[in-house]
Amino acid sequence: MKNTNPIGLFDSGIGGTTIWQEIHNLMPNEDTLFLADQKNAPYGTQTKEAILALSHKNVQYLVDQGCKLVVVACNTATTNAIDELRATFAIPIIGIEPAIKPASLLTKTSTIGVLATKGTITSDLFTSKLKLYPNVKIIEQIGYNLVTLIEAGQLHSQEMKELLQLYLLPMVEQGMDTLVLGCTHYPYLTPIIRTILPADIHIIDSGEAVAKRTQSVLKEHHLLTTSTQLGHAIFYTNIDPASLQAFAPHEVQVQQIEF
Ligand code: DGL
Repeated sequence: MKNTNPIGLFDSGIGGTTIWQEIHNLMPNEDTLFLADQKNAPYGTQTKEAILALSHKNVQYLVDQGCKLVVVACNTATTNAIDELRATFAIPIIGIEPAIKPASLLTKTSTIGVLATKGTITSDLFTSKLKLYPNVKIIEQIGYNLVTLIEAGQLHSQEMKELLQLYLLPMVEQGMDTLVLGCTHYPYLTPIIRTILPADIHIIDSGEAVAKRTQSVLKEHHLLTTSTQLGHAIFYTNIDPASLQAFAPHEVQVQQIEF
């Protein structure tokens, strides 16, 4: 495997761009290939078996393209499929999970909230991680319909604002002072969430930590690129590229392919 081969990423859709951005910020010379499986979004309402099958298909595609490492840029796919993916594929696979540990260190009220998809919140991996924090009250909230609205271009709709109020205000009433965004689509909601939550509530996600982890795993495997040029990025989708293009950096041309 050459160190100049690309880093692969996948998500059910637009959310993966938030992780791509963190990786590109930290390692701008790395080539990247991002797969948005928008035809099958959302993943968060599907069964574990379906999420496993979709995740397997995506990683296989990225491996076939020569990726040296794959980032599962999706909490739902990570919490349902990471063990199976690591057991199946020979290249390093990095996952993303809700940032409960940093939130537990930040909270002063010992009360944190986690907003994530149904697939993440009901997964065995997520449930087992909660047990590691017996002294912290963790309020779990499923973000019903949020990903569907983002994928449909309804980020700034009245419906989105009302759903966020419905999910978040009861968490504030229960004493939450730190909110974990447990889905890679949700960082796009931060400006709207800021208008709903009191100003002193922390909002955190796992994007930067995942980029740092990716860098250290590449280093361990002697796979950090030796290129001194700005990395080349390709974004693939399996539907009309317009919705993903709206969230892609302007220099990246989204391509529609079958996968
Ligand atoms: N962006 C994904 C996540 O981090 C998937 C959301 C979905 O497709 O439901 O969970």
